[in-house]
Amino acid sequence: MEQAHIALSQFQLKNLTLQNRAVVAPMSRVSTLGDGVPTELMKDYYARFASGGFGLIITEGTYTDRHYAQAYPNQPGITNAIQRDGWARIAEATNQIGAPMIMQLMHAGALSQHLSATRSASAIPPVRHMLPGYSKKQGRYPTPQAMTLADMDMVKEGYIQAARHARQAGFAGVEIHGANGYLFDQFLTDYTNNREDQYGGTTENRVRFLAEVIGLVRSEMDDKFIVGVRVSQGKVNDFDYLWSGGVKDGEIIFKAVHQAGADYIHFASEGLGFDHGCLTRDGQSLPAFARRITGLPVIANGGLDDFKEAERILSDQHGDLISLGKGALANPDWPEKLAQSLAPLPFEANYFAQGVAIQAA
Ligand SMILES: Cc1cc2nc3c(=O)[nH]c(=O)nc-3n(C[C@H](O)[C@H](O)[C@H](O)COP(=O)(O)O)c2cc1C
Repeated sequence: MEQAHIALSQFQLKNLTLQNRAVVAPMSRVSTLGDGVPTELMKDYYARFASGGFGLIITEGTYTDRHYAQAYPNQPGITNAIQRDGWARIAEATNQIGAPMIMQLMHAGALSQHLSATRSASAIPPVRHMLPGYSKKQGRYPTPQAMTLADMDMVKEGYIQAARHARQAGFAGVEIHGANGYLFDQFLTDYTNNREDQYGGTTENRVRFLAEVIGLVRSEMDDKFIVGVRVSQGKVNDFDYLWSGGVKDGEIIFKAVHQAGADYIHFASEGLGFDHGCLTRDGQSLPAFARRITGLPVIANGGLDDFKEAERILSDQHGDLISLGKGALANPDWPEKLAQSLAPLPFEANYFAQGVAIQAA
């Protein structure tokens, strides 16, 4: 008999026993009715991944405060009891089916397509253009105002409150979004941060804000609650960016988030496959390196709906878990297909345009 695919083996993530290693990657679907409250249709959308056999579901990036966090119109939030209760209905549905949920907590910083006034690490205009399809706001991003220490305290408060709400809503944990060019990545990235205080300059300083938020959320939550972090090299407005210090930067960043209390590291690779976003300039695997130097569970990402590529990434120890974005949209039953050796369907651009309805069906 053929051996089962490695992605179908169980994994222990802290106190959670995951039925397999296939994780739904966070995907913004901008599907609320404007109030940031998750809808019934979103419940069906998320439940579909649970019934399709995914071991863990990470939500779309969810905004953490009403000041400067929101990235997109119709993005869900976790800033009040009504939003929390909407999420609770979703977590209840997926938990019942057997897939725990982690909420991705997101602050847009300079990359908001909802707000007209934004705050970031520094008053540096973002490169390139806003994303099509997420908002009527298009074109260049406005130049943000540099965050004061008081602004940063508001961000921290937002994250703590959001994590409390997520726990009350039945989530197994939260993922602090430090990837893809949003607020914490704006602090981390050399060309979007020219601060002269303890949050600018060296890589140690640039990762400080992210580490402080992880530490605060960690210390507010009971030990069972998972606090993960997502990082990346590339950004939604700069796909090809690589950390200038390669694994040296990786070492500082991974150690900082580990020491702050992160329970896992999720390494994102937007768009062009694992190697494109996860390797350094000299070809070293940052997720594998994160795993080795911290001993933390790592979620790898980037084109891993391909069965062979998923096998390679897990067997070669680039990660303990794999997250699927577009592959999960096209195949909400990807783990079932894998178990039955049925080829996954290709992603079609219209999956996004049709919102969550197509998968909820
Ligand atoms: C529609 C869509 C929305 C996304 N929204 C988010 C998000 O909210 N947070 C995040 O960290 N990544 C987001 N991503 C990136 C994915 O999590 C993932 O990193 C990316 O799609 C690459 O994985 P894939 O090759 O499996 O698609 C999004 C991707 C897609 C396709």
